Amino acid sequence: MRILVTGATGRLGRDMVPELARRGHDVTGLGHQDMDVSNLQAVRERIADLRPEAVVNCAAYTRADDAEKEEALAFAVNALGPRNLALSCREEKAVLLHISSDYVFDGEKSGPYTIWDQPSPLSVYGVSKLWGENYVRSLLAEYYLVRTSWLFGPHGRNFVDTMIEIGRSRCGNVEISVVADQRGSPTYTADLARACADLLETGCFGIYHVTNQGVVTRYEFAKAIFQKVGLPVEVHATSSEAFATPARRPKNSELDPFPLAETIGYLLPTWEDALTRYLEQKTLQTRAPDLIEAQAPPRGRQGR
Ligand SMILES: NC(=O)c1ccc[n+]([C@@H]2O[C@H](COP(=O)([O-])OP(=O)(O)OC[C@H]3O[C@@H](n4cnc5c(N)ncnc54)[C@H](OP(=O)(O)O)[C@@H]3O)[C@@H](O)[C@H]2O)c1
Repeated sequence: MRILVTGATGRLGRDMVPELARRGHDVTGLGHQDMDVSNLQAVRERIADLRPEAVVNCAAYTRADDAEKEEALAFAVNALGPRNLALSCREEKAVLLHISSDYVFDGEKSGPYTIWDQPSPLSVYGVSKLWGENYVRSLLAEYYLVRTSWLFGPHGRNFVDTMIEIGRSRCGNVEISVVADQRGSPTYTADLARACADLLETGCFGIYHVTNQGVVTRYEFAKAIFQKVGLPVEVHATSSEAFATPARRPKNSELDPFPLAETIGYLLPTWEDALTRYLEQKTLQTRAPDLIEAQAPPRGRQGR
């Protein structure tokens, strides 16, 4: 398949491009510099030129706290971006796989959110992501809408790396406070990319919740990271109220995966398993970067 990946320089995009290329797809990865998704004319021209059969949209404005002040920019990228891609996909008869977020929900539900639950976002970022979803759903018949949560992986900043940096930054006793009233499923970008690539091959369009299995609070996740890395950090539980951020986060981000397994044949591994593999990969990368490069799957094209 001829596939265009947007946001190819981001956390997820950088794993998505090699995952699709490894499967023999003809992949073009575009970063922000190559194509601004908020620019309708640029998107139309680029997609008409590349004529992809599928577009995987990993481009987004993801700084949830900054979005509270940069509302116009967040909406341009997260709402108009998917609108522009959806319109162009419709014109070129391409399928769109769009990535969305657990932040479209308010977190008030006691159980996991199903694909049939009504979104009700708490933040500007969440509302902008919901509008992106709405555009995709109203403009296209052939789309995959993939909601995910709490991404970590080898590219870009993430919670795991931040915890490790804090743990290593000071010698001796380290104490930190981490919120214990937000729960969700940490998700490894490599696992998410694999599931998206599998979804694309099914032709079963619709909404999917794709995360690693298992749910933790951020406090429990931090403790697991320090324990696995062997860092003697004392973690204290705090609350969202005590650790106020500009953007409100859902307290419950658990996403019910039904009907993911019924569609691609499996659920993603547990977050503990994913964390172990991620930390092993990090260690290997530090010890033998040349070996990793030599073993890496073929990369798709980056930009044009
Ligand atoms: N990170 C998470 O924990 C998380 C959780 C749930 C859902 N998600 C969703 O997962 C998807 C991927 O997230 P991520 O963490 O990989 O994001 P990311 O690391 O912030 O990457 C976003 C990518 O989009 C690009 N981009 C930003 N504005 C653009 C524009 N106007 N035109 C074209 N490209 C633009 C960025 O390029 P520049 O950096 O050069 O601007 C970057 O390559 C997003 O849809 C996000 O909402 C993420």
